[in-house]
Amino acid sequence: MDSEKAIMKTLNVALVGAGTIGRMHARHLWRAIDGARLHGVADVFADGAKACAEQNGGVRWTTDYNELLADPAVDAVVVASATDTHPDIVEAAAKAGKAIFSEKPIAKSIADGERALGAVERAGVPFQIGFQRRFDPNFARIKQAIVSGEIGKPHIAHLISRDPGPPHVGPVGLGGGIWFDMAIHDLDMARWLMDDEAVEIYTQAGVMIAPGLEKFGEVDVAVMVLRFANGGVVTIDNHTDSAYGYDQRAEVIGSKGAISIDNTYPNNAVLSNAAGLHHSVPLPYFLDRYQAVYRDEIQVFVNCLLQNTPMQVGVKDARASLALAVAAKQSHEEKRPIKLG
Ligand SMILES: NC(=O)c1ccc[n+]([C@@H]2O[C@H](COP(=O)([O-])OP(=O)(O)OC[C@H]3O[C@@H](n4cnc5c(N)ncnc54)[C@H](O)[C@@H]3O)[C@@H](O)[C@H]2O)c1
Repeated sequence: MDSEKAIMKTLNVALVGAGTIGRMHARHLWRAIDGARLHGVADVFADGAKACAEQNGGVRWTTDYNELLADPAVDAVVVASATDTHPDIVEAAAKAGKAIFSEKPIAKSIADGERALGAVERAGVPFQIGFQRRFDPNFARIKQAIVSGEIGKPHIAHLISRDPGPPHVGPVGLGGGIWFDMAIHDLDMARWLMDDEAVEIYTQAGVMIAPGLEKFGEVDVAVMVLRFANGGVVTIDNHTDSAYGYDQRAEVIGSKGAISIDNTYPNNAVLSNAAGLHHSVPLPYFLDRYQAVYRDEIQVFVNCLLQNTPMQVGVKDARASLALAVAAKQSHEEKRPIKLG
């Protein structure tokens, strides 16, 4: 596509999955993304697909995503359906020749991940994975400090991710659980911030919050320690029931200094009295904290498609984060450090 056509073209984007995050992507695609518009919505839950389509421009809707993949007007697909469905839908979208934005994780096993990513590579279609924190101005400032040398060579990073409520166990289980829905973001951040690949991971984890998770092979608290090829070390602290709300902080310590980021708050007022200094708890959850960033990541995806430039977070990142999540879980189950290839 030459640059003049790129400027004129508006991409038609199909959304698969009209749940919590899918509805947010639909709102952005309908009103807030330059160069793209929502073309259709698919969800196995007919009422959900219909409502999402009606609320976002009255676009077409279906319970079978294959109908949208067969539509020649569709340029790109946003996959925001349940975690277990990602490999099949990404594979089918790649075979249909569509550009793909897939929510994380690409899969819950290496075999399923390879099936989907292999199809993407064979088809040669553009692919972005939904690691929105890479487009968050706070995390990006840490990355900038590392790339520019402001803190020298990164030695240690501490990543904290604590959710405000215990994981919901639905009729089909837990989706990706702590490893594939939650830790995978931090594992991606670890690679991205350290600008390096992990060579070993060790996990300590357990069930402290939601008794009964064990029967799904799940945990609700986890700490991971990663060692990187250049010698750097990263700790990841995941907790699923933070009493003070959504907590995502990071610090990187390097040879010339350190850089850290705090949470985002509804206001920055500090009330001082005899009992202490008080300020608001952080913004409640991911949709509040990253609202603008979820829009920006889709805008970047669309810009890369229109300008025919490489995806900024793609197949390699989907593959590497999955390998780390699988290894983190394996380390917990086998109670030993796992080496990465
Ligand atoms: N990047 C992030 O920060 C972030 C945040 C939340 C969720 N997610 C990811 O997004 C995905 C969806 O999460 P959610 O919280 O919106 O879940 P959700 O349960 O609210 O929604 C999932 C939707 O997918 C639909 N669905 C299931 N199978 C389908 C199929 N075969 N075809 C079409 N639709 C199907 C369900 O009916 C449901 O409406 C998960 O993989 C999750 O890990 C990412």
